Amino acid sequence: MKKILFVTSEAYPLIKTGGLADVSGSLPIALQALGHDVRILMPGYPAAVAAGHFKPHRQLHGGSGVAILEGGLPDSDVPVWLLTHKDYFEREGNPYLDAEGKPWEDNPHRFALLCHVAVEVAMNRMGLHWKPDIVHCNDWQTGLIPPLLSDEPGRPASVFTIHNLAYQGLFPYPVFEKLRLPQRFWSPDGLEFYQQLCFIKGGLVFADRINTVSPNYAREICSPEFGCGLDGLLQHRADRLSGILNGIDPAAWNPATDPFISARFDSNDLAARCRNKAVLQQQCQWPADPAPALMAWVGRLVKQKGIDLLIELLPGLMQLPVQLVVVGTGEGRYERLLQRWAQLYPERIAFFCCYDEPLAHQVEAGSDLFLMPSRFEPCGLTQMYSQRYGSVPVVRRVGGLADTVTDADPITLGHQQATGIVFDESSADSLRQAIRRGLALFCNKPLWQQIQQVGMSRDFSWEHSARRYESLYDQALADSHLAESLLRTGQASG
Ligand code: ADP
Ligand code: GLC
Repeated sequence: MKKILFVTSEAYPLIKTGGLADVSGSLPIALQALGHDVRILMPGYPAAVAAGHFKPHRQLHGGSGVAILEGGLPDSDVPVWLLTHKDYFEREGNPYLDAEGKPWEDNPHRFALLCHVAVEVAMNRMGLHWKPDIVHCNDWQTGLIPPLLSDEPGRPASVFTIHNLAYQGLFPYPVFEKLRLPQRFWSPDGLEFYQQLCFIKGGLVFADRINTVSPNYAREICSPEFGCGLDGLLQHRADRLSGILNGIDPAAWNPATDPFISARFDSNDLAARCRNKAVLQQQCQWPADPAPALMAWVGRLVKQKGIDLLIELLPGLMQLPVQLVVVGTGEGRYERLLQRWAQLYPERIAFFCCYDEPLAHQVEAGSDLFLMPSRFEPCGLTQMYSQRYGSVPVVRRVGGLADTVTDADPITLGHQQATGIVFDESSADSLRQAIRRGLALFCNKPLWQQIQQVGMSRDFSWEHSARRYESLYDQALADSHLAESLLRTGQASG
């Protein structure tokens, strides 16, 4: 049994903007099921405080405004500590962005505070009477933890998980000064990245072990194409870097029990699935009609996801017997274009410009094809959900999409292994050809049903991956013991 402090900036169902929340709300449960003592530390945004039963633990540093609320992840036994601060976290809205969609100006201060408090918790100096063996950090918001921890004698081991290398937490030098970080961290071997403070580098340089959320993305980020300027560093630390595929929460994403969908079903009862299509069509204000292929998009409207490629295709797609439902928010230019297309073709295109968890489930349950033409995709969860729900994914062969979807070709179809359509090039034309391939298969009902059923029976549960995290923690502990003994030898001889 290990004691694990899991530090994250979001966790479902307390607060969610994307896949990090899904992972933070399900991996700790899977680790606990393996016998570990896992506790989550995250910011106490008002929505998170309201979503659970939390009580104050104790006021700290009287007057500093920092307090810890104690509670749990709803519907689980995983303890959660919420870090509240009246200036930094007690504000409504998105955890990272203001009402105009711009990052909160004080984000470096907000998340530096999270990191400092995480180190205090990790060193058992917060009066919580608990000291972890491992601190598991996630994404740039937790990037200062490994460097701050690195000098602490008797420290826990650190693991840093990259959910998305493109978000690095970059800020100008004066921010570094204002954060009063030790000056020695200001170097290219530390937190400096082309004269900027780079939070994520803290994790990449100082963590005992680094991992990312799929084996394929772990390989890709060591190359200039996907490395976001950090590929050299990652190559240098390649012996400490691995890829562990995300799992999905089998309770939250199960079509046989999902309370958010209109008709529950499983792979032996695809007829029930049709009712979800009809309901989804009604939600789009269309008549219920099983004939057209209903294509879906659920996700952030940003360049990473390739939404521009889909928008480019819309004129041609409208010549085909298809419907399209898009649920997402993101960059204003994409939102405006989609709004315009939905007005032009109200009977074929529906755009829900919102974040709507129940609707996302209904779309997975009622659509026929699920589009994910991502430019890069560290793991991607929605293509796994769509396979579970019998909506056939059309994905680019990149990151975790390549690791989780098996392309329908004559051989994979023959072996009953195909679960989706996979294409190579990041272009509208390749996406068009992939959709056309999908539509041809959609017309062949027995083959289509086979693809759906194979996808629905795929095991995307956390169990296997949680065991891989167990080994990662063992490796991190061994590395941290070695680092500490080297530090002691150095101090003795120096
Ligand atoms: P990312 O984390 O890069 O956004 P993932 O596929 O890992 O992508 O996870 C996205 C998660 O966010 C999924 O749970 C998906 O259902 C959810 N999601 C994204 N956009 C929306 C939306 N507009 N409404 C509801 N859920 C959404
Ligand atoms: C990030 C990635 C996504 C991944 C998620 C959870 O948001 O963009 O691919 O699935 O994190 O790890």
